[in-house]
Amino acid sequence: MSVVPFLIEVLNGDIPDRPPIWIMRQAGRYLPEYRAVREKAGSFLALCYEPDLATEVTLQPIRRFDFDAAILFSDILVIPDALGQSVRFQEGLGPLLEPVDLGKLDGLRTDRILAHLQPVLETIGLVRRQLQRDKALLGFCGAPWTVATYMIAGRGTPDQAPARLAAHEAPERFEALIDILVDASIEYLVAQLEAGADAVQIFDTWAGILDDEGFARWAIDPVRRIIDGVRKAVPDAKIIAFAKGAGSRLGIYGRQTGANGVGIDWTMPIADANAMLPAGIASQGNLDPMRLTAGGEALDRGVDSILAATAGRPHIFNLGHGITPDTPIAHVERLIGRVRG
Ligand code: CP3
Repeated sequence: MSVVPFLIEVLNGDIPDRPPIWIMRQAGRYLPEYRAVREKAGSFLALCYEPDLATEVTLQPIRRFDFDAAILFSDILVIPDALGQSVRFQEGLGPLLEPVDLGKLDGLRTDRILAHLQPVLETIGLVRRQLQRDKALLGFCGAPWTVATYMIAGRGTPDQAPARLAAHEAPERFEALIDILVDASIEYLVAQLEAGADAVQIFDTWAGILDDEGFARWAIDPVRRIIDGVRKAVPDAKIIAFAKGAGSRLGIYGRQTGANGVGIDWTMPIADANAMLPAGIASQGNLDPMRLTAGGEALDRGVDSILAATAGRPHIFNLGHGITPDTPIAHVERLIGRVRG
């Protein structure tokens, strides 16, 4: 008989006594065992495309902390890489891409995405075989808006001004890029689910920087199309959508995208999220990562207030964004102990 992972039951609307827990960026630089493998791999992208090493770092946080889910070790920028845009990761600087020219989108190669991402799909198969059946394996991709911000600016920026400007100045051309990313994301997420992922998360880290019209057009609509497209191929696909900074738009985001779960960042009062979200949509979040870095009282109070506010609704415990590299391991242990009670 097949075992349904605990976290997947919550995405089906179940309400457990204690929420399942995983944390964004749980495989990463705060772990000495990650830093060792990362050094061995050489570059960050080499690690993403080396199935044995990527499997190892995906499983490291599960071995150490017994989280309820493993998240595939990869990056949202493997999609621009698969499209043929030059992508590299510079130590201390983050991602660097050759900015795309919206007038020359036919330079992007849409015909070899899965061929290029084969090593990532292989990692999913390897992880699923080694992961206990009651743990969920999460695949992911970036949402088209967030991926487009990096493709256009060529790097991270504080306010994504280049992509916002392009979307206002040349909305048709910008939409053509979003369309390419919607199709690529559908293909990639379906392949991840077929390779063994139990659910997938769509990361829209920069959704909150959009104005109202932009949020509807560039954050909600493309993610809705991805979810519809994935469900055409995999009708019961479980999907979490995380629009960081959605704020008062969280309810409409959850309802209109059709996600099974929505991520909540730490600035959002959980009571407001509860009021906005239909009872059947799971929430996920939303501890301030700085409470985890600080530890002690600040951590305990943050955890307790989330547990109290989410009791009685389907909730997945997580941070409101990724764990920082300077977080002490003892704080992560304390977090898990407190969530599990
Ligand atoms: O969560 C996990 O443990 C799974 C792996 C994962 C990574 N990136 C590994 C990574 C996931 C899910 C991501 C998503 C991602 N990547 C997002 C969306 C979520 C978010 O955090 O906002 C974004 C915007 C990116 C793009 C990206 N990748 C940036 C801006 C950076 C540089 C910033 C940084 O933290 O260094 C990366 C690099 C990156 N991706 C690292 C890791 C572990 C650190 C690089 C390294 O180890 O050398």
